[in-house]
Amino acid sequence: MNIHQNVSLADKNTLRLDARAEWYCEAFTVEALLEAAEFALNRKLKVISLGEGSNIVLAGNLAGLVIKNRIPGVNRDAEVVHVAGGENWHSLVRSTVSSGLFGLENLALIPGTVGAAPVQNIGAYGVELGDTLLSLKAIHLPTLEQKTFSKAECELAYRDSLFKRNDEWLITHVSLALSKVSECVTTYPGIVSYLKEHRLGISGESIAKAVTHIRAGKLPDPLRIPNVGSFFKNPVLETERAEALAKVFPDLVQHEATGGKKLSAAWLIDQMGLKGFRVGQFVVSNQHALVIINEGGGTQGELFELVGVVKQKVKYTFGIDLEIEPRIYPDGF
Ligand code: EPU
Repeated sequence: MNIHQNVSLADKNTLRLDARAEWYCEAFTVEALLEAAEFALNRKLKVISLGEGSNIVLAGNLAGLVIKNRIPGVNRDAEVVHVAGGENWHSLVRSTVSSGLFGLENLALIPGTVGAAPVQNIGAYGVELGDTLLSLKAIHLPTLEQKTFSKAECELAYRDSLFKRNDEWLITHVSLALSKVSECVTTYPGIVSYLKEHRLGISGESIAKAVTHIRAGKLPDPLRIPNVGSFFKNPVLETERAEALAKVFPDLVQHEATGGKKLSAAWLIDQMGLKGFRVGQFVVSNQHALVIINEGGGTQGELFELVGVVKQKVKYTFGIDLEIEPRIYPDGF
């Protein structure tokens, strides 16, 4: 196991923020991961686990050991797939869809690894990881214990889980309960109109195709244009408060959600005329108001200044505190 010191993470996060890891390694097996975790334990180093870096904001240099989970492997057992954390999420969607298993088609083209998917409980087009998650395996970093978590134990919520709040666990494997029977979710109007326009029936393949088309049209590809997808969560307001707001802003975009109404953060930001708003090299995407882009060499200072302006304007006009969606490192920043 090669563990390196003082490693740049600039090419290991899709926002391309420049930050360094005190220690860094890549683990291709559970044994290597345990070895690295033990290295950290012996030196009292904090461990930060990394996938493809597509949903993190590096606010500064990271003290401790950054472990990139690169464990490969997909095993199918009837309708259940057991997947190692280092696998690419979209490749998994493609392979399950083409082998006739339903459940992941709406989650096509989401960047990142399988191991990172439960942390945020990734979701899109009416489906969340939690809809198919059966269980997952994780290593408890302070004790090196390996534990299987049931779905309930993962405490999944909208873009949230136990693992987002508690970084003592490093996810090594994920098991998903898929289905050979079509239970496709086509509630999102864009999917229906794509299928109609292309005269496609409802199948895993056609929905994945529709979602890929919609995403590619709306969201800049993080591998070409540095970004982390949605930068803010969609705020959930108590129904009464949302209704009062809708009286003042009749076009307010809102949907039913657990605990009230989910508003569109993109709409709120767009109303502020912030598309194209820039601080240094960071800019609010002209394509989608919820996406912040690094045009090259942008600094943490520029990013957080821009984020501050967006939050302040939305708060001032709508009284809503936007919450940042990706994980911010170092903790407590
Ligand atoms: N809208 C605007 N301006 C824009 C973009 C959108 O006003 O520039 C309004 C439109 O009215 C649109 C509404 O916002 O109907 C919602 O936009 P969209 O369908 O793009 O979805 P979203 O709420 O912005 C969420 C997820 C996405 C996911 C899509 C599709 C969050 C924070 N984001 O975005 O997830 O792909 O729904 O289900 O929940 C991500 O998490 O990184 C992500 C991309």
